Amino acid sequence: MPASMNIPPLPAATPEGQAAMRLLLTRYSVSAKHLREPGPPDEAIWAMGMAALRAPDHEKRIPFRFVVARGEALERLADLFADYGRRHGKAGADLEREREKAMQAPVVVAVIARIDPRDDVVPAHEQWTTVGGAITNAVNALHFMGYGAKMVAGNRATDPAIVAAYCAAGETLVGWIAAGTMDGPAKPRGEVDPGGILKPF
Ligand SMILES: Cc1cc2nc3c(=O)[nH]c(=O)nc-3n(C[C@H](O)[C@H](O)[C@H](O)COP(=O)(O)O)c2cc1C
Repeated sequence: MPASMNIPPLPAATPEGQAAMRLLLTRYSVSAKHLREPGPPDEAIWAMGMAALRAPDHEKRIPFRFVVARGEALERLADLFADYGRRHGKAGADLEREREKAMQAPVVVAVIARIDPRDDVVPAHEQWTTVGGAITNAVNALHFMGYGAKMVAGNRATDPAIVAAYCAAGETLVGWIAAGTMDGPAKPRGEVDPGGILKPF
């Protein structure tokens, strides 16, 4: 736990609950430049998917899916990023950096939303909420299993050529979860007092 964390005694009923709460409250994002091999193996990615499927999901619409890249598949993502860079006037070392962006983390999991705006039982905002819950459960699960992770998006996630490489009609590329082993201890970070988001009705 980062030194700056000042977590009060947690009202968990069991030691397992206490441990789970501590892990949850000390989850932090680790950017791709601090992620190394080994990346989460297939079993960990499977468990990440199971955790994502535990997100609250009205009528179990499962309005998301993941596309996992490691090894050679990351080269394909690097090609896409290089193409993006070229189209945005980059060359030489700048273009190489563009490729590296795709290859910094050993595993890159694309998050794809499949929202049905015509669903007359589960409105779009509820489906999007499930996508957010799935991302949160996924990064929490990776943290629980000892891996660093960060959700990123940015301009590349809306680039039509990159979107076309991932999405079918009606799908949205939300972004990518970069995952791997942290290159060192996480930087301590401040806490936000939940008093500001907890008010009696
Ligand atoms: C859908 C989504 C897209 C995001 N895109 C970016 C991004 O492109 N770049 C970035 O630095 N952080 C992005 N973030 C925020 C990070 O994932 C992270 O939450 C933030 O850096 C705060 O760190 P923390 O999770 O440790 O509190 C995004 C978060 C979400 C949910």
